[in-house]
Amino acid sequence: MSLFTKALPFGSPATVTGLLAFLFAVLFMAPQVSAKRWIVGGKMGWTTNVNYTIWAQDKHFYNGDWLFFVYDRNQNDVIEVNKTNYETCNAEHPVHNWTTGAGRDVTPLNVTRHYYFISSKGSCYGGMKVAIRVENLPPPPSGAPLKEKNTATKSTHQSLFILPVVFAIGAAWDAFLRFGL
Ligand SMILES: *[C@@H]1O[C@H](CO)[C@@H](O)[C@H](O)[C@H]1NC(C)=O
Ligand SMILES: *[C@@H]1O[C@H](CO)[C@@H](O)[C@H](O)[C@H]1NC(C)=O
Ligand SMILES: *[C@@H]1O[C@H](CO)[C@@H](O)[C@H](O)[C@H]1NC(C)=O
Ligand SMILES: *[C@@H]1O[C@H](CO)[C@@H](O)[C@H](O)[C@H]1NC(C)=O
Repeated sequence: MSLFTKALPFGSPATVTGLLAFLFAVLFMAPQVSAKRWIVGGKMGWTTNVNYTIWAQDKHFYNGDWLFFVYDRNQNDVIEVNKTNYETCNAEHPVHNWTTGAGRDVTPLNVTRHYYFISSKGSCYGGMKVAIRVENLPPPPSGAPLKEKNTATKSTHQSLFILPVVFAIGAAWDAFLRFGL
């Protein structure tokens, strides 16, 4: 009858409480594990003739995600600028120069804010620039389904919760049966 007791022999109610606390800690930390690395522009990469506003508009970027710029190192670069300089394609006062020289640059999105990246080599004027809004991770689902339409990314975030949730409920039920908590 008691599957969970067999799998995990609990010593005392204190152990059960500790275990539950641990499981909730795992639940809380799970989102960080699922950080996503976005290839800017998808298959096209970081190049001319891609509208990066359109590329970014249906995506959710979360704190902890990464951007991966893949491009021809002889033609372009990756310069982070502020909003004003993004709009005017001005790379003279970079917030950060992410160009390493390999044409493969990774930038962490580790602050919840807007990020602006341009290519400084002239292509910015043709639209080679991208603005990213980084959001905080959504709170873990508390049983109620999310109202927002889920993207593939979000489903990944969610599926990570399911196993621990099932496990925690099972453990709690077990504790209830055994100790009358
Ligand atoms: C961006 O930086 C420039 C200086 O390079 C400054 O004049 C401008 O006000 C800044 N814009 C914002 C939105 O911070
Ligand atoms: C960015 O850094 C690279 C590599 O250090 C350098 O070659 C390039 O001139 C820098 N670009 C700008 C716009 O500061
Ligand atoms: C974000 O990442 C950058 C580059 O790795 C680092 O310099 C900065 O300290 C990080 N910021 C936070 C808030 O973690
Ligand atoms: C990219 O698409 C947006 C939305 O359709 C449009 O407003 C913008 O002008 C386009 N940018 C370029 C550089 O074509």
